[in-house]
Amino acid sequence: MYVCMCNPFTDKDVKNALQDDSVKKSAAHVYKACSGGQSPCCGSCVCMVKDMVATHKQSDLIAAE
Ligand code: FES
Repeated sequence: MYVCMCNPFTDKDVKNALQDDSVKKSAAHVYKACSGGQSPCCGSCVCMVKDMVATHKQSDLIAAE
């Protein structure tokens, strides 16, 4: 499923970025990793990227318990 249409990337790209230790786990860093270094244009996908990063961080916390 496409997450961003302005700088096209998919949810799979976001998941790959979240698994990549070289990518800081913030929405801005994950976005840039997925978009080839581009910044958001319309911004309509930013909430989805933020949600995916937050969910990833929560699952890391649960796994650490
Ligand atoms: S849909 Fe991602 S910046 Fe527009």
